[in-house]
Amino acid sequence: MWSSSVKIGAELSIAGITAKQLAKDFGTPSFFIDEADFRARALAWNEALQQSFGPHAGTVYYAAKAFICTEVARWIKDVGIGIDVCTGGELAVALAGGIEPAKIELHGNNKSVAEIEKAIASGVGIIVIDSLYEIQTVATIAARANKVQRVLLRLTPGVEAHTHESIATAHEDVKFGFSIASGAAWDAIAAVNTHSSLELRGFHAHIGSQIFGYESFELSAGRLIGLLARYRDEFKKELPELDLGGGYGIAYLPGDVAVAPAEVMHALSVAVTNNCTLHGLKIPNISIEPGRAIVGPTMFTLYEVGTVKDVTLENGMHRRYISVDGGMSDNIRPSLYGAEYTTILANRISSAAHTSSRLVGKHCETGDIIIREIDLPEDIVPGDLLAVPATGAYGRSMASNYNHVPRPSVVAVKDGKARVIVRRESIEDLLALDI
Ligand code: LLP
Repeated sequence: MWSSSVKIGAELSIAGITAKQLAKDFGTPSFFIDEADFRARALAWNEALQQSFGPHAGTVYYAAKAFICTEVARWIKDVGIGIDVCTGGELAVALAGGIEPAKIELHGNNKSVAEIEKAIASGVGIIVIDSLYEIQTVATIAARANKVQRVLLRLTPGVEAHTHESIATAHEDVKFGFSIASGAAWDAIAAVNTHSSLELRGFHAHIGSQIFGYESFELSAGRLIGLLARYRDEFKKELPELDLGGGYGIAYLPGDVAVAPAEVMHALSVAVTNNCTLHGLKIPNISIEPGRAIVGPTMFTLYEVGTVKDVTLENGMHRRYISVDGGMSDNIRPSLYGAEYTTILANRISSAAHTSSRLVGKHCETGDIIIREIDLPEDIVPGDLLAVPATGAYGRSMASNYNHVPRPSVVAVKDGKARVIVRRESIEDLLALDI
């Protein structure tokens, strides 16, 4: 839930700096990212992939959509893993951070011509093709550039991952990719093979996000390998790569148990080996795309309390509304997916009794709730600081300017030093777009 250098004592600190000091120096709300923890998690996924798959380990592509900025792209480059980008914007940040184009993989179910042109001109390692239209477009643009572009086909293996409906991606009724069951995948394979400017390297599937247990991943891998076998039977050669996507679950609440990299990679390596043995296939290179599992636990959001109000409910119960200086503009996940978070008082220790509270934001909307129900010390007052852990993934990256609230800064903390890596938006930034 918390990153490794967070300490919760008399007050919360990260990499040796107290929450009070951080609030004073950088203001609230802000996201604080534990740089050492980010690097360690990226390395841990890479190590788990290497150890479980040995010579068949492909690439860990960090899913930029979870959170990216130029500095974090530099960390990815330093760590030496790859990156999955799904728009021209994410591609631009990856390149600005100096990531080697060969380590970039381009996704997207509706890539624009400009995005594909930019990706091919930059020399991205892999384009994951999502539709029949795109096969033609990528082939034409690659041919015009005199290149042979390596591609994977994004497949929907028909796996119902157990997660929120909006973030499950590999059942039949989704916008992404080619269905294996309906035969669309086979049509796509045939279409790709008609283009000499495309080199089909293998298949990709991403079954969804915030997934626990390994069964869905194993099932998905098994179905992709079944198709690799069919490909071998038909074309008398084997495709060398499988990308099994991301989606590994993390802890948001006390008691949640995150998916452990070594364990899930081991389970996947067993599933891949067994399925390849069954079909008499060589083991392909296996790549993965964790986003949340790398960045999620590395950040917390620090808010300042602005108002406290008590209400008595119809059943006689009492609820306290604690309003902070951010809300649904910096964390849309509770409203969008019913996501649950926890929080702690970060600037002092309280021995007061706890009272049933609801943590809400500053937006003009009743649904602007960060935590629906939580017991918090009853002496919390305006000016207190609250820290919400595990906001690294899909927090700042999904932030909006709703109500013209400027988006918060992101501050990197390491070895007792803190520095802004994404500055807070200003009112001038907001006005700058208006004509
Ligand atoms: N690869 C592909 C092709 C993806 O579409 C995604 C996430 C990932 C990898 C990374 O998944 P992760 O390891 O981060 O779970 N906004 C939602 C999550 C949407 C995920 C979209 N795709 C949320 O806040 O829960």
